[in-house]
Amino acid sequence: PPTPDDIQAVIDTERHREGALLPILHALQEAYGHIPEGAYPLLTATLGITRAELHGVVSFYHDFRDVPAGRHVVKVCRAEACQSVGANAMAATLLDRFGLDWHGTTPDGRVTIEPVYCLGLCACGPAAMVDGKLIGRADPAKLAAALSEPSV
Ligand code: FES
Repeated sequence: PPTPDDIQAVIDTERHREGALLPILHALQEAYGHIPEGAYPLLTATLGITRAELHGVVSFYHDFRDVPAGRHVVKVCRAEACQSVGANAMAATLLDRFGLDWHGTTPDGRVTIEPVYCLGLCACGPAAMVDGKLIGRADPAKLAAALSEPSV
C-alpha cells in the first residue's frame, strides 16, 4: 500500500485549488485505482473537514472506490429505458454467473460489475460498457465475449 508520504504528495498536487476535495479524490483514484484507507486522516487534516463529511462525499460519487476494481470493469445500465427492455433480468443473470453483487469484484481480481444510470445508448438497451467500450443490446454472452477480448 502507498505510504502516507506518497498519499500526501498526491493530495498536495491539488490542495491549492478551490473546492480541492473532488480534484484530490480524483487524483488519488487515478494514482491508486481507489481511495486508500490511509488517505482519510490526511484528507481530514489537510482540508479541515470531518471524517463523516469525507465519507459522505466519497460514497455520494459512485466513481470513487474503497477497494481497487478488477482488471475489467463491466457497467450495466439500470436506468428506465434499459429496465423496460429487460436490463434487470440480464444483470441478474450476469451477476449470478460471476457470483457477484453490484460493485463486487471476483476473487481473482478479474472482473468488477457496477451499475450505471444511463449510458446514452437508450435506443439499444440493455446497454452496458466493458472497459470503457459501449455495448448495445447487451446480454450475458455478449458481455462475456467482450470480457475475453484482450483489453486495449
Ligand atoms: Fe440505459 Fe439510457 S437508459 S442507456
